Amino acid sequence: MFDLDGRVAIVTGASSGLGVAVARALAGFGARVAVVARRLDRLTELAKEIDGAAVTCDLSDLDQVRTVVPAVAEQLGRPEILVNGAGSMFTYERAESEPLDASRRTVDLNLLAPFLLAQDVQPHMLAVGRGTIINISSISGRVGIPGIPQASYAASKAGLSGLTSELAVQWARHSIRVNTVAPGFFRSEITGPLYDSERSTEYLRRNTPLPMEGSAEDITGAVVWLASDAGRYVTGQTIVVDGGWTAR
Ligand SMILES: NC(=O)c1ccc[n+]([C@@H]2O[C@H](COP(=O)([O-])OP(=O)(O)OC[C@H]3O[C@@H](n4cnc5c(N)ncnc54)[C@H](OP(=O)(O)O)[C@@H]3O)[C@@H](O)[C@H]2O)c1
Repeated sequence: MFDLDGRVAIVTGASSGLGVAVARALAGFGARVAVVARRLDRLTELAKEIDGAAVTCDLSDLDQVRTVVPAVAEQLGRPEILVNGAGSMFTYERAESEPLDASRRTVDLNLLAPFLLAQDVQPHMLAVGRGTIINISSISGRVGIPGIPQASYAASKAGLSGLTSELAVQWARHSIRVNTVAPGFFRSEITGPLYDSERSTEYLRRNTPLPMEGSAEDITGAVVWLASDAGRYVTGQTIVVDGGWTAR
C-alpha cells in the first residue's frame, strides 16, 4: 500500500529540516525524488544519497518557480507526487506593525509558489492518470499562537488549507488528490531560536500534551500515507501532526 516504486516526486524545502526527512522517506519507499531549494551544496549531497535530482530555485521569485517542474520532468520524468515543503517567516513583528513587503514575501513563498507548482504539475499528473499533492502548512494556520506573532505567516498557511480543498474538488475527477499536513513545533532552522532558550522550550513542552518532542521523521508518516495508495481515498484534508497542541 505504501509502495512508491518508480514514481517521480518533487519535494521543495529539501535542503533543511522537515523537507530533508520527507525526501528521504519518499525515496525509502521507492520514489525518484527531485529536491528543491536555494542551497545547491546541500541539495546535491542529498540527491546523491537518495539517487534523486537537485533543482535550485528561489521560490519567492514566482518567475523562477515556473522553471522547477520542467527541470524535474526533463531529469526524472513526469512528476506524480508534489510536496510543497518550502516555507519561511520574514517578520516577527506584531500584526499592527508588520511591514507590507514582508507580508507579500510570505504569501509569495508560502502560498503562491505552492499554487503555481500545483498548476505546473497538473498536466503531468493528467498524462500519468493520477497524482498527489501535499502542502506543508502549520498549526498556526488553524489556531493563534500566543507570544509568537506571525500574522501573514498564519494567513498564508491557512490559505494552503483553502487551496487544498478547492484543488481537491476541481481535480478529483482526474484522480489527483490534494491534501495538507499541518505540523506543530519541530526543531529546524526556522524554529532554531525558539529551541535556543530554556524559557521557550519549556513553553512548547507545557503546551504539547504528548510527553516527548516531535522529530522531523514524525511528519513523514503522514506524508508517505498521503503520497501513496494507502491514502488513495483521502483528499481535500488538512492532517495535523502536533503532539496534541491543537487538541487542548
Ligand atoms: N519546524 C516547525 O516547527 C514547523 C512548524 C509548522 C510548519 N512548518 C513548516 O514546515 C516547512 C518546513 O520547515 P522547516 O521547519 O523544515 O524549516 P527550515 O529548516 O527553515 O527549512 C525551510 C526550507 O525551505 C527552503 N526555503 C526557504 N526559503 C526558500 C526560498 N525562497 N526558495 C526556495 N526554498 C526556500 C529552505 O531552503 P534554502 O534556504 O536552501 O532555500 C529549506 O529547505 C515550512 O513550510 C514551515 O513553514 C515548520
